[in-house]
Amino acid sequence: MMLLLQVPSPSMSIFDPVSGPAARLASLGAFLLVISFLVFGLVMVLLAMGLRRGRGGSVDEPPLPHVEAKVVRRWVIGGGAVFSASVLAVVLVVVLATLRSSGAEAAQEADVELVGHRWWWEVRYPALGIVSANEIHIPTDSAVRIKVRSADVIHSLWVPQLQGKMDLIPGKENEVRISATRAGIYRGECAEYCGAQHAHMELFIVAHEPAEYAAWMAARREPAVAPTDPLLQRGAALFQAHACVYCHTVRGTPARGRMGPDLTHVGARLSIAAGMLPTTQGALAGWIANPGRIKPGTLMPGFAIAGEDLRAIAAYLESLE
Ligand code: CUA
Repeated sequence: MMLLLQVPSPSMSIFDPVSGPAARLASLGAFLLVISFLVFGLVMVLLAMGLRRGRGGSVDEPPLPHVEAKVVRRWVIGGGAVFSASVLAVVLVVVLATLRSSGAEAAQEADVELVGHRWWWEVRYPALGIVSANEIHIPTDSAVRIKVRSADVIHSLWVPQLQGKMDLIPGKENEVRISATRAGIYRGECAEYCGAQHAHMELFIVAHEPAEYAAWMAARREPAVAPTDPLLQRGAALFQAHACVYCHTVRGTPARGRMGPDLTHVGARLSIAAGMLPTTQGALAGWIANPGRIKPGTLMPGFAIAGEDLRAIAAYLESLE
């Protein structure tokens, strides 16, 4: 099994696209940049010409001599209105065409439900009965339909290498399709300010080759395996004896809380606390002992648990793959 001592930090550049829609958005971005530079350059040239001409004239001269009124009008109407309107019209048509095409890829019914919380992502695969957090696993051969909604305030899903932004709005369901042409880990962020820890609301899209994807999901469908190692058994008992169970679910155990992330396979995840910490025993123990210090404002309370007990609980959680 993978052991990550650091949370992965892949590219977040829109100019490094790994899906059809993202590639179209990257071209659109490049197109808009070129247009902006051309217009900016033109304005600067005209400004320089104006300054040069103005230097020769005297202050007493009327600003618009009668003979030049026609020429001035031509510049104001032609350059100011007609030229600007034409450029903006072209840009509008290109932008609308790109946005229309960005949702057009054939979708497979791999439906994922994504729920934004302050400050983490709940990930549900209803057809598979899997609930996870802060990462979405997809196959590379098809676009995955993701229904998004929010449990509290407005959040926004943005994975620059794969897709444009989609808002998660309370009381409203939006839909976005995500695909990746190559296997890998892609990084997303919450792109709508949602409170103190908005900057710590990361999400990973993990794209697998189809066969690997099937195996990964099959393993995640299983309930948590009851530990046989004495330390892990002790950790499981302590976890179930503490208030953890009121907020977290570990399928196959009495823990059935719904407030916090489902922990059935937390040990297989890339991070805890939505991208802040790797899923290591040390990070888990530190998080349980004092989450408010790591992520001020988090709903997770700290637990004053003795060192050995804390180690047992952290080891148990890390073992939940
Ligand atoms: Cu969620 Cu910003």
